[in-house]
Amino acid sequence: SMARLREDLSRLRRDIAEGRPQGVERQHALGKLTARERLDVLLDEGSFVELEMLRRHRAQGLGMDRQRPHTDGVVAGSGTVEGRRVFVYAQDFTVFGGSLGEAHALKIQKVMELALSTGSPFIGLNDSGGARIQEGVMSLNGYGGIFQRFVQASGVIPQISVVLGPCAGGAAYSTALADFTFMAGDTSQLYLTGPDVVEAVTGERVTHAELGGAQVHGGKSGLATFVHDDEESCLLAVRDLLSMLPSNNLGRPPALPPQGATADLRPRLAEIVPAEPHKLYDMRLVMAEIVDDGDYLEVHHGWARNVICALARIDGEVVGVVANQPMVLAGVLDASAAQKAARFVRFCDAFSIPLVTLVDVPGFLPGKDQEHAGVIRHGAKLLYAYCEATVPRISVVIRKAYGGAYIVMDSRSIGTDLALAWPTNEIAVMGAEGAVNVIHRRRLAAAADPAAERAELLEQYRQELIHPTYTAERGLVDDVIDPAETRAALARGLAMLRDKRKHPAPRKHGNVPL
Ligand code: COA
Repeated sequence: SMARLREDLSRLRRDIAEGRPQGVERQHALGKLTARERLDVLLDEGSFVELEMLRRHRAQGLGMDRQRPHTDGVVAGSGTVEGRRVFVYAQDFTVFGGSLGEAHALKIQKVMELALSTGSPFIGLNDSGGARIQEGVMSLNGYGGIFQRFVQASGVIPQISVVLGPCAGGAAYSTALADFTFMAGDTSQLYLTGPDVVEAVTGERVTHAELGGAQVHGGKSGLATFVHDDEESCLLAVRDLLSMLPSNNLGRPPALPPQGATADLRPRLAEIVPAEPHKLYDMRLVMAEIVDDGDYLEVHHGWARNVICALARIDGEVVGVVANQPMVLAGVLDASAAQKAARFVRFCDAFSIPLVTLVDVPGFLPGKDQEHAGVIRHGAKLLYAYCEATVPRISVVIRKAYGGAYIVMDSRSIGTDLALAWPTNEIAVMGAEGAVNVIHRRRLAAAADPAAERAELLEQYRQELIHPTYTAERGLVDDVIDPAETRAALARGLAMLRDKRKHPAPRKHGNVPL
């Protein structure tokens, strides 16, 4: 009868949703939430629509045909975050260790395709033993199909990977291909080969955490964009991030009502930044004065901290801020900083997020280590990213901007739309000390009183080449502004540039340095 069929169906669905009690207990004992609990935290209450809950694998051999759990180890579907549609999967470690077989992969691929065709962000919650060994090459084929879809959706919809357990082998590429990767606490592990394989191949003994824990990827490899202490704060942070992003590349990021920023003076800015070019200060204090409510979301907070990349709002509009951080390595650019900022600039450009660049940079980090690490190749990524960016771009030179680093940090020559500078700006090939040493070496060596001679030459260099309006007189800075006016000037600039349109010549794609 109909009543009986309905009852059976609802019992089946309830059993699937509850999962195996031992599995759920083990998950909780490890300090982890289950796949469904995670979706409850991530999505608006009651919004989740599950797809293919009843799917099972059809693999044969190795006893697989006797073990065919519904869902096949992944919960997939769609829901909303603050009322906006997203597509999502959550791997279920309690079923085959969340391992990815053919059916599991097809479920993930289906939500990826729906995310792309509906123009909605895609979020993957990873907790998996990797490719399902029993399904052999079909598992590997499943990953390949996922990666292919990541790449096709890149720059069309935001893609977010969250690592909440093991994520090993090929699976790891689901994080590097995403726009943003989150890791949580001690339970996230991300590596190509686990500690056992490492020991077998190289003899090196490492723990899971040392090899690929959240601290490693948040601080050293740069793979994790965001690191959180626990799963719940991690999932809530995904919601926060989404509140700053457009759903796809045809939309605009969600704006809030303007705050009157165009007339908002911030006299504290002049106190935060010392006028002497080499004195330290915390650029985050400057950012906090400039953006709405002092509120910004930093990406890669723990990696390449000499450059800051953050999403924030100015007068309600979302912007991407790239800023040198004089507190760390004196704010120099190096290979890691260039990679970090380059990817951020490209993300912002792909998703119509205007760029605000705050410049206070002594140059690129000199030395053998950096040259051998390919600082030129990595620096070129940042250069390329800015040159290519067609979103509204505003740069503010706060103090020094020397040499190649000046050019790279969104200078007029590479296409900034509005170049502003504080009266403390020093834009030159190099700082006064270095410059005088190079161009006056002979004169200094021959001088009767080298110290007095040097002081005089330094003064001359400053007066002639780095006085406050030097660059503005040449049209490479549009205006020299009172520091207190920075927030207002940015708000006015963003309003002025809002409808900027630029269409690069058609080509298959550029050859971005990688
Ligand atoms: N394929 C098939 N089943 C897998 C699997 C995989 N890749 N990874 C884990 N499982 C299964 C386990 O057999 C186990 O099944 P059981 O509950 O029926 O015994 C279950 O998932 C849980 O795994 P377990 O090893 O008990 O969990 P753990 O927390 O101790 O270890 C891992 C987790 C991920 C470190 C471990 O399972 C592992 O090393 N897996 C293989 C990783 C790998 O190299 N994958 C290939 C990468 S492409």
